[in-house]
Formats: sequence, structure tokens, C-alpha cells
Amino acid sequence: MADRPVETLNRPDVALEKALRPGLFAEFTGQPKVKERLEIAVAAARQRSEALDHVLLSGPPGLGKTTLANILAKAMDAPLRATSGPTIEKASDLAGLLTNLGAGDILFIDEIHRLQKTVEEYLYSAMEDFRIDIIIDQGPNARSVQLTIPRFTLVGATTRSGLLSAPLLTRFGIRERLDYYSAEQLTGIVTRSAQLLGVDIEPGGAHEIARRSRGTPRIANNLLRRVRDFAQVRGDGRITEPLADRALAMLEIDQNGLDEMDKRILEAVVVKFGGGPVGVNSMAVAVGEEPDTIEEVYEPYLIMEGYLNRTPQGRVATELAFKRLGVSSASGPASGASQARLL
Ligand SMILES: Nc1ncnc2c1ncn2[C@@H]1O[C@H](COP(=O)(O)OP(=O)(O)OP(=O)(O)O)[C@@H](O)[C@H]1O
Ligand SMILES: [Mg+2]
Repeated sequence: MADRPVETLNRPDVALEKALRPGLFAEFTGQPKVKERLEIAVAAARQRSEALDHVLLSGPPGLGKTTLANILAKAMDAPLRATSGPTIEKASDLAGLLTNLGAGDILFIDEIHRLQKTVEEYLYSAMEDFRIDIIIDQGPNARSVQLTIPRFTLVGATTRSGLLSAPLLTRFGIRERLDYYSAEQLTGIVTRSAQLLGVDIEPGGAHEIARRSRGTPRIANNLLRRVRDFAQVRGDGRITEPLADRALAMLEIDQNGLDEMDKRILEAVVVKFGGGPVGVNSMAVAVGEEPDTIEEVYEPYLIMEGYLNRTPQGRVATELAFKRLGVSSASGPASGASQARLL
């Protein structure tokens, strides 16, 4: 319960998100390597007057996948048709979308890991040969007709690239994974958002919000809005570092920005499994979450922050994790404790 607000905050306020979403590569902070590779791909495709190769963007929620898809469309000067895996129920829905595209158009499929198998298989020939088979007529007259579709660009986004089948993965010429942002990069994002919202913020205030945003721009933007409310009601409207700290404490935002699930995972590894090593499946059962989600959404942040390590035997809690939970690593069961000390 303690950190419930963080979870809630990772769910977008749609209007706010649109207002703060960078529209150009130049406004997109962080992810320098991804940005450079995408900018080169766009420039090259434009020079050749070709459609951009299919692009797959993966990474945890709120790091900028949808934002980048929109930036790509703008940079290519191409219209973007947005849909999502679960909304395409049948192959005919996809056929409808594909036949309405123009050359160079961008089809954005969010949550592409949630496509039905039959729809996914249908996508293969569309992506590779720009051809689809459609069935016309019914009953004894039913026959399959092959249609050529314009050279479009598929931009897929997923939080769970591990769930994508190899045939689908390999059909994306460009595959990019977004990483968590550093506190410095997030400070830049908070400062930019504050400017757009007309919020008076000191560098220390921006840094305090950034540092407690779990490496995630969406969380940073949402926390900024909550801290702005606090500054308005309890302060003079200006976000200073002490004020941000008071506001975030009131919101029960962890000093390190960990959310409820992060803490449950750490607690499970440290307390239930004595520091590990523990397999992801046991961890998943202990915290009541899917193993894939743990691996692709939670674990990367905990590893980046130095709380967990991945070893061939399984996940192991670091000294930092023991310290964070106030558990002495020497007091755990022998194997876990010695593992933790080794790391
Ligand atoms: N690099 C960035 N610079 C500035 N703002 C960013 C950046 N990345 C994301 N944001 C902000 O964070 C918000 C969330 O980003 P976005 O919707 O693109 O995330 P996502 O990866 O698509 O998340 P989900 O997996 O939940 O769909 C955006 O509205 C934007 O305001
Ligand atoms: Mg998105």
C-alpha cells in the first residue's frame, strides 16, 4: 500500500501526456544511441525516397516508445495509423488496415506481443513481400486472392519483446530497446515539462523529482504535476528541493523511487529466499506476478540500480538490497548470505 501512488502514477493522464510529449528528435532527451541510429535510418530512407524499414521498439512502460513512433512519423513526413495488438481481433481487421495504407505510411501497432497468432502470421507476408491473401466470397465460391499493398512501415512497440516469436522479430529491420533514464536526463525532462506547464521550479527541485521517478519519464512528469499541486497549496508555488522532498514524502514516494512491486520482489529474494539464488519462476509465484513481467519490467531497473544480480544459478540480492530492507546479510541462511557477500 505504501507506494501505491507510484503504480497509479504510471498510468497516463492522456491529455497531459500529449501536451508534454516531444514531437521531434531534437526535443527527445536521452537514449542517445537509439536516437542516433533512428535518425540515420530516417535520413537515409528520405534520401532514397523510400519507406523506412520496419521498426520494433521495446522496453518497460513509460520510456518513450509511443513518443518515438510519433517522432518517426513526423521525421518521415508520413501519416501514422495507430492501433494495438489486442484490438486487431481477426486477420480481416488487419487486412482492412493494411489495404487502407498509402506508400510510406506508418502503421503503429502498440502491444504487438498481444497479437493473435493467426493475425501475426498474416502480418509476415505483408511485412516481407507487401502482399496479403484475402478470401472473397463465401461457401463453395470462396477463393483466395492475393493483393499487393503499398510499401508501408510497421512500427511495433512492446514491453515484452521476449514474448515475440522469432519469425516476427526477424522481420523488423530495426530493433531498438529503450533503457531507463539517468537522474540527469530525467532532470532535463522535468525542467522542460515544467517550462511547458508554466511551473516555477529550481534545479534542485527538478533533480529531486527526477531522482525518485524510477528512471521513467512518464512517472517524472506525473510526479511533477503532483508536486506542483503541493507547491501551490502548501507553498508559494515554487518547487524547491525541500518542497519537492516534502511533497514526495506526503505522496509516499520511496526515496529511491522504488514502487510496490519492486519492494515485494526485493523482499521475496532477501527474506523468503535468503538472498538467493532464486529462479524467476519461484520469484514470480512469491510476489504474484507473471515471470515475463518480472523479467522485462521490474528486474532491469532493480539490476541497474544495483539491488539484484543475475547469475547462472538465478537472481541474487546484493548487499544494497539487504541494506535497503534493513536486513543484515549475515543473518540470512548461509548460502544466501555468502552469495550476497560475494557480490
Ligand atoms: N525522451 C523523452 N523526453 C521527454 N519526454 C519523454 C521522453 N520519453 C517519454 N517522455 C514522456 O513520457 C511520456 C510517456 O512516454 P510514452 O507514452 O512514449 O511511453 P511508452 O514507452 O509508449 O509507454 P507504454 O509502454 O506504457 O505505452 C510521454 O508522454 C512523454 O511526455
Ligand atoms: Mg506507449
